[in-house]
Formats: sequence, C-alpha cells, structure tokens
Amino acid sequence: MRWSPATADEEVEPDLRAAFAREIGGAPDGVWAAPGRINLIGEHTDYNGGWCLPFALAHRTYCAVRARPDGRLRVVSRQAPEQAWEGEVEQIRAGSPGGWVAYVAGVVAILAQRAGGPVGADILVDGRVPLGAGLSSSAALSCSSALALAELVPGLAAVDRAELAQVCVRAENDYAGAATGGMDQTVSLRAVDGHALLVDCDDFSLTRVPWTLPGHEVLVIDTRAHHSLADGQYAARRDTCERACRSLGVASLRELHGADVDEALGRLEGDDEAQRRVRHVLTENTRVLDLVAALGQEDAEEVGRLMVASHVSLRDDYEVSCRELDLAVEAAGQAGAAGARMTGGGFGGSALALVRRGDVEDVAAAVHEAFLAEGLEAPHLLRATPSAPAH
Ligand code: ADP
Ligand code: GAL
Repeated sequence: MRWSPATADEEVEPDLRAAFAREIGGAPDGVWAAPGRINLIGEHTDYNGGWCLPFALAHRTYCAVRARPDGRLRVVSRQAPEQAWEGEVEQIRAGSPGGWVAYVAGVVAILAQRAGGPVGADILVDGRVPLGAGLSSSAALSCSSALALAELVPGLAAVDRAELAQVCVRAENDYAGAATGGMDQTVSLRAVDGHALLVDCDDFSLTRVPWTLPGHEVLVIDTRAHHSLADGQYAARRDTCERACRSLGVASLRELHGADVDEALGRLEGDDEAQRRVRHVLTENTRVLDLVAALGQEDAEEVGRLMVASHVSLRDDYEVSCRELDLAVEAAGQAGAAGARMTGGGFGGSALALVRRGDVEDVAAAVHEAFLAEGLEAPHLLRATPSAPAH
C-alpha cells in the first residue's frame, strides 16, 4: 500500500532555501506554505451560494519568495522544472503564460493591479499536496504565492485573507482557465487548526466547527483516476444550475433553502436534468447543516450516514462520480467505515472514509485489495487531520 504522509514545515524549509540558492541565486525573503483540503460534505454547493464543510490538510505547497523591484516575475516549480518561466508582470494575460505557471502569474498580475505599482518576485515552488488528486494542489499553489506577495509588498498591506481568497479564485478562473467556486481557496487561506470550516458561500462568512470525533479518522483514498471530461462537465453543471435559477426566478439556488423541495422541482417539470441537479444542491445544503449538528452531538454514525447520502446524491442526481470513486466508497463501507463519499469536483480524484482510529489500516487494505481485484491501479492513501491555514 502506498501512503502519502504529510511533511513537516521544518523538513521542507531548509531544503527549499538551499534549492533557491542553487536554482535562482541568493536567499529568499521567506518561505510561505498553503494547505490542500478535503471537504467533509457540501459538494457543488459553493458556486450555488450554499454551504460546504472543508478542512485544511497537513499537506502543503511551499513557496520560497524574494520580492523584485523591477516588475518582473520568475517562477520555478520543483515538480515541473522544465516549465520555468520569466517575464514582465505587465505582460501577463489570460492563458499567457499558460500551464501551471498561470496559477501563480494570475495571482501576481491581479495583486499588481491592486497594489497600483510595480510588483515582481522570484518564486520557487515545492508542492507537497498530491497533484491532481482532487485535494486542491492548485489552490495551495495560488494561495501560497498570494500570501507571500501580500506580506512582502507594502502596497498590499490592507488585503485581508478573505480578499486574497477571491484574488486566487479570479486568478484560477480568468488566467488559468480553471473553473472553481471558492471553497478551496477559502479553506486554504482561512482554515482553523483542529476544526472544520462551515463556509457560507453566499458571502463566504465562516463558522469554525471543532472536530469532535477523536475516536475516528478521515482516511483519504486517492483513486488515481483523472477522467478528462472533468472540466467540461464542471462547467456544464454550473450552466444547468444557472438555467434552473432562471426558470425558478431566483438569483441563486441558495434562495430556495428551506423551501419545499418537491414544490421547487415541480416548477422545473419537463427539465429532468435540471430537476436532478437542483435536488442534489438543495438536499446537500440540508445535509451539510445536519452533519454539523451531528458533529456537535459526537454522533459518528449519523455523520457517516450523511456522507453516504451525499455520495449517492452526487452519483445519481448530480452525476459527477465514476467507477473508481463508487468502488472506493463501497469497499470502505464494506470494510467497516462509518461512512464514505467522494470529495471535490468528481470524475476521479479522492474519496473520504470516516473510520474508527484502530481500523484505518484494515479499511485501507480492504480498499487497496478491492482496486486490485477490479484490475485498477492501486489507490494512494493518506490520513487527513484538520490543520492550519496558509502561513
Ligand atoms: P488538484 O487541485 O485537485 O490537485 P487540479 O487538476 O485542479 O487538481 O490542479 C492540478 C494542477 O495544478 C496541476 O496540473 C498543475 O498545473 C498545478 N499544480 C499544482 N501544484 C503544482 C506544483 N507544485 N508545481 C507545478 N504545478 C502545480
Ligand atoms: C472543486 C472546485 C470547488 C467546488 C468543488 C465541488 O473542483 O474547485 O470550488 O466547486 O469542485 O464541490
């Protein structure tokens, strides 16, 4: 079995400073780190103004950064050394530079406009969030560079973390061409150690939710599946939700929270697709709030039941699951997990299982075997503990 343990900051930092001296020259002004995340529940609700309940992982993306006075940007990643980039910040446009660099370049370009003066930097990245696993390595990348710039550039002193998260969302949407609703950037920058974060995506206000199940752990199953339809399908889901809003005469599905779900669906008669998507979003919002209540009562069984209900809704109504995610959820459940579900956008990526602390190895082994028995690549595994925000 392959585990992906988190690396401590103290282990990464000296190594990254040495790499900076070698690959860029001299010393950085500092090293910043931003975490990946899991989402306990509340999937595809963020861009519908609903609720989600993510927490930050101890797995982080690190950036060694030195400010430059000349308005130029140089970015190098230890995960993609052959795709380094250097150029004028003023020349950065949507998609240019492209690839992974766009996540950082977009952030720097937007912050330069905000600062109203030249902003430049040398940045060396080392990502310790598994890449492309649905655990938001991309948000960890944009958030770590954004926090570095916000702390280094005097003209950005007034930019708080809530604004910074929105800067990262814009960078991902407009420069990297990656659709994202704001959950990932919010938790990466604003998480609370030891807590999950109830995010109200209507205004991105937060409530901290203590992790009250010390006898249980969240096992993350990275299925290693990346179905290429993910991007187009994400956009299609957003479009359908917008179409439903127009039919229902609301600005956001959030306005229907607390309304009679069947009555709302009745008004979408004839648009079967919109009915199913809306049913997911409305019932998912209720499940998020119910799960927060179940955590308050330290009721692991109910938390698990809600996780499974969320997965079924994402599989059948929102149709964003896939064979590998369904298998992970099913195998974890059969092996004794209190509950399991996909996390993140879907079509591959990771599933979560809520598992009694002493059973983690056994459940992991059972899922591993189930994948091999189906002729699938073995999943990667990690333990998720609610961790600190970007720092
Ligand atoms: P996730 O954010 O869930 O890991 P995505 O597919 O949304 O998955 O984002 C992964 C992309 O983010 C990578 O393909 C790459 O472009 C970029 N990325 C993330 N971390 C790094 C890194 N350390 N170095 C270079 N690119 C990175
Ligand atoms: C992610 C996206 C988030 C959220 C999630 C589904 O890929 O970045 O903003 O929409 O999918 O809950």
